[in-house]
Amino acid sequence: METKFRHDGGVPLPEPVRRFTEERAKAVGFAALKRAAQTLSAAYREGSATALSTLPAAERVAAYLATRMPATYAAAEAVLRELRDHPITSVLDIGSGAGAASLAALRWFPELNPITWIERDTALAAAAREFLPHVHLRSENFQRLAEFPPHDLVIAAYSLGETPSADVALRLWQAARVALVVIEPGTTRGFSLVRDVRDRLLARGAHMLAPCPAAGPCPMTAPDWCHFAARVQRTSLHRRLKDAELNYEDEKFSYVALVREPAALAPSRIVRRPRHQPGLIVLETCTPRGLETARATKRDRDLFRAARQAAWGDAFPPL
Ligand SMILES: C[S@@+](CC[C@H](N)C(=O)[O-])C[C@H]1O[C@@H](n2cnc3c(N)ncnc32)[C@H](O)[C@@H]1O
Repeated sequence: METKFRHDGGVPLPEPVRRFTEERAKAVGFAALKRAAQTLSAAYREGSATALSTLPAAERVAAYLATRMPATYAAAEAVLRELRDHPITSVLDIGSGAGAASLAALRWFPELNPITWIERDTALAAAAREFLPHVHLRSENFQRLAEFPPHDLVIAAYSLGETPSADVALRLWQAARVALVVIEPGTTRGFSLVRDVRDRLLARGAHMLAPCPAAGPCPMTAPDWCHFAARVQRTSLHRRLKDAELNYEDEKFSYVALVREPAALAPSRIVRRPRHQPGLIVLETCTPRGLETARATKRDRDLFRAARQAAWGDAFPPL
């Protein structure tokens, strides 16, 4: 499997997963699927998954696969790129849903074994095991587990925020042999959860890997918040369900990746989409000194060239 790639153009779900999604969508029927997709989207907008329990399982699963999974997959793929040089051979996926984070991990670490999921939505997990049959599934409430089985990588993608609890991140960190990754929606609420996990675990001896260029206090202050965007290719089904014209969307997310061993940090991190003007590229960056604005002009050819290639979320200059 190819592992050296950039993510700017949008990362599609693996072909077997796309085919499976189309089949599930067809079985449910477009009208029912569209209603389910609207309920799903309202539930996530309001930050409450309660309304989802009113949907028939087949509709809920198909709507998640068709509308949310391409986005969570793209976000996890972009984040896990930061870990690509780490020795990761196993993954524990917390609130694994339909396995988006595990699929993204497989893009970077194709030999993962075991892959363990903790997921209480049995319908979603059962559907996902049709394209990832070798996964160990624990159908449990992860908040109730006193400890987690150790794995190289522990990842909680879009799941901690559904049932917030201050202590679970600490228990997840204890299970992480190499790295812990937490991804949340790129909202003020998602960022606040991520920053809380960051601060608590740095205080417990975790080392920063990304996105921060330093382990000191986060310089981001309200109303601003640290978030990034992953480009998601929309399939025609995705477009029809969302009444969308563009063939892509940008999934906003906040994240933190913490590691056991000290790691080389980004000199700075680009925290907004770069602004291109004639002969000038303006980069908003987070640096070890705080938030800074970098201006690259053609006069500094090397800097300008690096800035031209730079994207929101990248280390700058690149590592
Ligand atoms: C928004 S989905 C994200 C799924 C997947 N990680 C992804 O990135 O696509 C959140 C998942 O976490 C699961 N979840 C939330 N709280 C949970 C808990 N306390 N125990 C087990 N699963 C939980 C939900 O059932 C849901 O499948």
